[in-house]
Amino acid sequence: MTDPVLHASGLTKRFGGLTAVDGVDLTVRPDTIRAVIGPNGAGKTTLLDLITGFTRPDAGAVTFDGHDVLRLPPHRLPGLGLMRTFQSARLVPRLTARENVMLGAHHLTRARFLADGLRLPLARREQRALAERADAVLDHLGLRGYAEHKGSELPTGVARLLEVGRALAGAPKLLLLDEPAAGLDGAETAELAGVLRGVAAAGTAIVLIEHDVDLVMSISDEVLVLDAGAVVADGPPAEVRADPAVLAAYLGTVEQDTTP
Ligand SMILES: Nc1ncnc2c1ncn2[C@@H]1O[C@H](COP(=O)(O)OP(=O)(O)OP(=O)(O)O)[C@@H](O)[C@H]1O
Ligand SMILES: [Mg+2]
Repeated sequence: MTDPVLHASGLTKRFGGLTAVDGVDLTVRPDTIRAVIGPNGAGKTTLLDLITGFTRPDAGAVTFDGHDVLRLPPHRLPGLGLMRTFQSARLVPRLTARENVMLGAHHLTRARFLADGLRLPLARREQRALAERADAVLDHLGLRGYAEHKGSELPTGVARLLEVGRALAGAPKLLLLDEPAAGLDGAETAELAGVLRGVAAAGTAIVLIEHDVDLVMSISDEVLVLDAGAVVADGPPAEVRADPAVLAAYLGTVEQDTTP
């Protein structure tokens, strides 16, 4: 079996008296879609924050592609191939769709290390290359028509897809998505599912936090179920779906999603 691209073990995070994440193990293999589901407050976003170094764990370890994530500052991770999206949309409102996607690939450039004034030609060339890269992503997502639209003008569905596009522009080895389908209609969700399948097939592993159980079950290779910070089940979708502990913890309450 191939080595996992991500291996987290014993991850624990307490906020005061609350254990938001409680001894969680998560392994992600290359080319796979790994879902993390669970009711509101189960600890899904906190788990993502721990994996990406945004939050320091009280216990546990995270290895990504041979690197000890907990020893690296979070801004180093995109350069190593670890990219994430956030639960609430974080497009820059005053930048165009193209410029927003370009931000996701910024770590691939060299000019950012150098004083702009000294390396203007290089910076200009790299900006052009970034714009081309962003346009390729927009084409891939069928969003080229929005390239010149400001982030603040984009419909929700487009903005959510664009956030995935921004992360993809960075050529990640592992993409962590926090509820990418929130606010999408059926057609947009189906389109997103197609995009994610293509991304995984092209060699980028995905961790998908999602409330849409049908989406999760239809595209995931393995599903981890969290409840009150702890792992309730972990396995292939069909197995997880039939697990009585999962039904009790989660699937019965899925209609009550209150995510904003
Ligand atoms: N910075 C924080 N300080 C205190 N408590 C927090 C903090 N972040 C999260 N929590 C708490 O930790 C628990 C897990 O929250 P988390 O956001 O990880 O859940 P979630 O599974 O992502 O939920 P949702 O489906 O609503 O997004 C919740 O009880 C939440 O209130
Ligand atoms: Mg969350």
